[in-house]
Amino acid sequence: MAAHAGVGCGPADGSAYPCNLASGWGVCAKVQTVKVDGREKNGAAAMGTRRWLPGLKVKEGFTRHPFDVEFGVRTSGLVAGRHLKSGHRHDRHNTAYYGVAPSVFQALVRRWRRTGPAGAMEETTFVDVGAGMGRAVLLASQLSFKAVVGVELHPTLAGIARKNMGIWRAAGRARAPMRVVEGDAVDFDLPDGPVVAFLFNPFEAAVMRRLLKRWRKDLAWRTGELDVLYVNNEQEGVLEGERGWMRVFEGKVRRSKADAIADHRIMANQPEGEYASSNWEDCSIWRFVG
Ligand SMILES: C[S@@+](CC[C@H](N)C(=O)[O-])C[C@H]1O[C@@H](n2cnc3c(N)ncnc32)[C@H](O)[C@@H]1O
Repeated sequence: MAAHAGVGCGPADGSAYPCNLASGWGVCAKVQTVKVDGREKNGAAAMGTRRWLPGLKVKEGFTRHPFDVEFGVRTSGLVAGRHLKSGHRHDRHNTAYYGVAPSVFQALVRRWRRTGPAGAMEETTFVDVGAGMGRAVLLASQLSFKAVVGVELHPTLAGIARKNMGIWRAAGRARAPMRVVEGDAVDFDLPDGPVVAFLFNPFEAAVMRRLLKRWRKDLAWRTGELDVLYVNNEQEGVLEGERGWMRVFEGKVRRSKADAIADHRIMANQPEGEYASSNWEDCSIWRFVG
């Protein structure tokens, strides 16, 4: 059995909310997805033509997050990485789709602003690495960023994100211009000027290493600085092992009560019980210092 990164986990408050992890995982210690050989096989079979992005139907445990109810968008759902096949060689390293808790996003951005970023927000481009259905892109667009870009590998998720952006703009909620690019994060060219890259645990170490290598190359010739906001920082060790990166924050960022209730309920409804949720996310903020 191999474990790999996922969404957010561990009963932070010690409460006994359902945490039906597969055998070998006694406690929800941290956010994880669990890959069990047999289950993988079943998942792959279920992929075929019969099911479309498993996890997005009510009978599969789908529960709407209050963010979607309030704003009329569609960012809820938990889709395991094994169901997110785009044909790209990095598919097998995809952790899962799950929208970030808005309260965690907002708290981490506030923290980042206190770390003394290189540029003003108005000069900085926000890049969501693994944008999914676009929840973090929508949230970032409410701030005064120069631009907001989401990069998403899976075409269906990228399409949903674009629809959400249309709804968001039409409602007058977007302050910054925003767009979604469909493709692999490693192939994405960082824009000029200060950039803050947001990662909600999108992939495993192999892709993280390639991404950092790519960014190092980009940073050699482009102007501007790069900061990384990393939520559910499972691949923290990869950043620690790379030259030129300085950690400016590391800690647990708490979910609001509403987000904690919503995420616990969503996790409790998963048919396969692979993931768990806690009242916080392990987060870090990194700065490229060359
Ligand atoms: C946990 S979700 C986060 C969604 C969004 N950032 C948010 O916070 O609401 C991670 C997303 O990363 C995407 N992803 C995984 N590997 C990727 C890659 N190599 N390039 C671009 N996107 C990727 C997945 O398809 C998934 O939608």
